[in-house]
Amino acid sequence: MKEWTTEERYRPLLESDKEMLEKMHEEISQSVWRTDFHVQSVTGLMSDTNGFSYWNEKWHLFFQWFAYGAVHGMKHWYHVESEDLVHWQNKGLALQPTRYEDNKGCFSGSGFPTKDCLYLAYTGNSRDELYRRIPYQLLAKLDKDGKITKQQMPIILPAPGYTEHQRDPKLFFHEGKYYILLGAQNDAGKGTFILYRSDHIETGWELLGELKVRGYDDFGFMVECPDIERIGDDWMLLFSPQGLQPQGDLYRTKFNNTYFIGKMDFDNLEFIPNGPFVELDRGFDFYAAQCANQSLYPNTAVLEAWFGVSEYNYPICDEQGWAGLQTLARELTIKDGKLLQRPCRAAESIKGELLFHVQAGEILTDNMLGLMPSACVIKIEDPYNEGIKFNLFARSERKGFEIFYDKKASTLTLDRSEMTNRFNQDYGEDRNIYLPNGLKSLEIFVDHSTIEIFINDGEFVASSRIFPEIDENLIRMGGKDVNVYIWIANKTVVDDFVIWP
Ligand code: FRU
Repeated sequence: MKEWTTEERYRPLLESDKEMLEKMHEEISQSVWRTDFHVQSVTGLMSDTNGFSYWNEKWHLFFQWFAYGAVHGMKHWYHVESEDLVHWQNKGLALQPTRYEDNKGCFSGSGFPTKDCLYLAYTGNSRDELYRRIPYQLLAKLDKDGKITKQQMPIILPAPGYTEHQRDPKLFFHEGKYYILLGAQNDAGKGTFILYRSDHIETGWELLGELKVRGYDDFGFMVECPDIERIGDDWMLLFSPQGLQPQGDLYRTKFNNTYFIGKMDFDNLEFIPNGPFVELDRGFDFYAAQCANQSLYPNTAVLEAWFGVSEYNYPICDEQGWAGLQTLARELTIKDGKLLQRPCRAAESIKGELLFHVQAGEILTDNMLGLMPSACVIKIEDPYNEGIKFNLFARSERKGFEIFYDKKASTLTLDRSEMTNRFNQDYGEDRNIYLPNGLKSLEIFVDHSTIEIFINDGEFVASSRIFPEIDENLIRMGGKDVNVYIWIANKTVVDDFVIWP
C-alpha cells in the first residue's frame, strides 16, 4: 500500500486534477466489488452519512469524502439525490474547505430543510499555526439552484471544559426552538453530549450544557455523530461511542454505533432511557449512522450509515483507490418500546427477476446449479424454526460467508473467516446474535461486496462487507421446511463520474 504523507492527505481537491480523477474513476468502476444499489464514491474514501434530509421533493444525502485515495484525508462533502431512497444520482462536490475555520476539512454534520434552502450544519476542522485543532460549528445553505453559500461567522465556537473533540452538529427543531446536539470529549477524557439552543438557525446559539442520560455516564472516550429523533411518542438517542470494551457477543467491532429509546426532558437536559443502550447493527461494518431531517414519513425515522468503521482498513479494495459505501436506507419505528428497523419501502423495487423459489415442505434442492448471483435479494422464512445454514460466495472446499442458525442456542451466527480475502480479523471474524424469539425470517440484500441481513422483520440488522474473488461464486443452502426466494437485484445506482458541474 502507498504511504501517504500529511501533505498528500491534506491536499485540497483541485479542479485541475479532473482528468486524473476521471481516469482513476474509470479504473475503479471496473472493480467487481462496485455495487448496484449502494451509494459509492466516484473515487477515494467515503465515510460518515451527512446532511441527510428530505427537501424540495427529494431526498438529499451527503457523505464525508476524500477524493485522492482510500485514506482519511482532507474531508469534503459529496452530494447525492434520490426520489425514493433507492435510485440515487450523483450530484457532485458539495462542501469544500475554503477558509481558516475549515482549513483541514469539512467534518460531519446534518441538514435542516426550510422553504427556500437546505441548511447544512457542519464542523470546521481547523488547525492553527502550531497545528492545534480548533473545532468550529459552521453553517452553509444549499439553494434551489444547487448553489451552496457558507455563512461568514461560525454559529458555535469551541466550548470550555472540552478538548479539541467537539463536533458533528445535529440540528433539529422542537416546540418552537432550534437545537444543536454535539458529540464531545470532556477535559477528563470522557465522551459526552452537549446541547445548544436558539430562536433562529443562523444566529443566537446558546450553550445549554451537557445532555445527561439518566443512569448512564460511560460512553467511552469520545461520542461521535450524535443524533436525536422523535419517533411517535418516543425518542431515540443515537450515537457512535468510541472506546467501549467488548462484552461477550456485544461491542466486538472496534467502534460501535448504539442507541437508547426513551423520553427526552428538555427542561432538565436529561434523556430518560427505557433500558440500556444497544448496538444498532450486529454485523461487522457499520458506523456514524444518521437519521434524515424529514416530515414525509410520520412516526418513522429514516436512517443511513457509513458501511465501514473508523480506523478499519479494507486492504484489497483500498488498493484500488476507493473505500466505503452508504448502507441501504432503513425505516425505523418503535413498537412496545423496541426499535424495529426495516429496509426502506422502495427497497422492494430492488427485487428483479425471481430466480429461485422453494416452499416449505419441498426439498431444498438447487436448481440454480449452485451459482451465487453477485447482487440479489434472498428471503428466507423459517416458519417451523428448524434451523438453516446458508453459504454465500462459497467455493468447493470453502464455506464462504456463512449464515447459520443454531436452534438449540437460539443464535444466528455470521462467519466470514473462510473467505479468501480476510480483513480486520483482530475484531473477530464471526458475529453471534442471540434471538430471544427464535428465527422467523431473514431478508438478505447482497450487492457484490456487501451483505445486509434484516432478521425477523426488523428485530435485528447485520451489515457486513466482503470481497469475494471471482471463483467464490457458489451458494449452498441447507434447511428443513423453509421458504426461500431469490431475486436478482436491479441496478439502481449509476456509477458515473460527477464532481464539478
Ligand atoms: C466519525 C468522524 C466524525 C468526524 C468525521 C471526520 O467517523 O470521526 O466524528 O466529523 O468522522 O471525517
